[in-house]
Amino acid sequence: MLSIEGLCAYYGDLEVLNNVSLTLKQGQIVSIIGANGAGKSSFLKCISGLISKKTGRVIFEGNSITNFSANSIVKKGISHVLEGRQLFNHLDVIDNLNLGAYLFFKRGNSGLISQRRDEVFDLFPILKERSRQIAGTLSGGEQQMLAIGRAIMSTPKLLLLDEPSLGLAPLIVSNIFSIIENLNQKGTTILLVEQNANLALGISDFSYVFESGRIKLQGTGQELLGNEDVKKAYLGH
Ligand SMILES: Nc1ncnc2c1ncn2[C@@H]1O[C@H](COP(=O)(O)OP(=O)(O)OP(=O)(O)O)[C@@H](O)[C@H]1O
Ligand SMILES: [Mg+2]
Repeated sequence: MLSIEGLCAYYGDLEVLNNVSLTLKQGQIVSIIGANGAGKSSFLKCISGLISKKTGRVIFEGNSITNFSANSIVKKGISHVLEGRQLFNHLDVIDNLNLGAYLFFKRGNSGLISQRRDEVFDLFPILKERSRQIAGTLSGGEQQMLAIGRAIMSTPKLLLLDEPSLGLAPLIVSNIFSIIENLNQKGTTILLVEQNANLALGISDFSYVFESGRIKLQGTGQELLGNEDVKKAYLGH
């Protein structure tokens, strides 16, 4: 479904990714782990069109989207939940969700959008209870749910998730991870960046370890969970 070939990316003259190649099959959960600053978020931004200074190729469903705008990449079926959620903090839950579908809004299809919103509410009942609450006043866990909910308003085929567990209590993290698995079982392919390596490797079909802008290791979740280097560096034992 997604194939990245020899991707290099730059902030000005600074190279942030070096020759990264990765593939993702439809229906999979693939995760990326790695230290702070390894280039994980930058990698997701290259896929979703938020970083344009790059070489190499991003192929989605057989077509190159390497130089597409962020808008047109959403239209192709890729949604990105950014690190740190990036909600419209002064707007309420419903308006944040609606904005997730704005590329698809046409006069006359608001029924479709409210139907989609109801599907998001089925997945995250707490968002329904809080539908008129201002996003900036939600708890951290609720904000993460809203960020994911907003991203899936466009019914993406591929969801890019950047550190969904960031700053959340363990119980909320496991709740969010089971929702990610649920979304995947319903057909959404997932590319997950996580600091919580244990959890990420546990739910992934395949994983990559990034180090200084390169892929250092790759393997199934089980293979990496058993790898001595991974254990020492990322699993804390
Ligand atoms: N807008 C930017 N301009 C210049 N340098 C940047 C920019 N964004 C990120 N960088 C640099 O690129 C490198 C990779 O950053 P990135 O955010 O991709 O890492 P990360 O693996 O997601 O880290 P973390 O785990 O802390 O989120 C870092 O050295 C960072 O300082
Ligand atoms: Mg990051």
